[in-house]
Amino acid sequence: MDAVELLTKEHEEAKQMFEQIDASTEPAEKERLLGELMTALRAHTKIEEEVLYAPVREQLKGGSKMFEEAMQEHQEAKKAMKKLDGLSATEPEWQDQFEILMHGVLHHAKEEEAEMFPKLRETFSQERLDGLGEQLAADKSGQLVVDLTVEELTEQAKASDIEGRSSMDKGELEKALGHR
Ligand SMILES: [Fe+2]
Ligand SMILES: [Fe+2]
Repeated sequence: MDAVELLTKEHEEAKQMFEQIDASTEPAEKERLLGELMTALRAHTKIEEEVLYAPVREQLKGGSKMFEEAMQEHQEAKKAMKKLDGLSATEPEWQDQFEILMHGVLHHAKEEEAEMFPKLRETFSQERLDGLGEQLAADKSGQLVVDLTVEELTEQAKASDIEGRSSMDKGELEKALGHR
């Protein structure tokens, strides 16, 4: 699977999970499914940030704007997930945060599919997309440890508006971004 196919497939799976959670009327089931979905979303944003977004930012036309927007949307999703971690599906605030997460993620996925992914196909060879797909899969399964530079991590933290980023070391930046 090339990078675009792999990520589009994960978007599709996330959409189905959101629908399933939304349709469920059982709080315990909603929580269990959301837990699974959040694990998948955290892995998805991590591999995109570690493998895909540097080539997007550096090599696509209009890439830095796409990168910044994507990082901001990831950050909003990470914030909503953090809030949801501490809530129970029986609380009204759970539903509010769930909807923020769902609408945000669906919007973000749609934007990647409509803008970023076609640009990737247009700019990169099939060989390159296959290589990126392999890296994404290997990063996801833990076979590949991606070591971003402090500069790259700082770019991501800046685009995500992470507070206190200027005094963070490499490990703290990775943690703040949810990569470790
Ligand atoms: Fe993304
Ligand atoms: Fe994505």
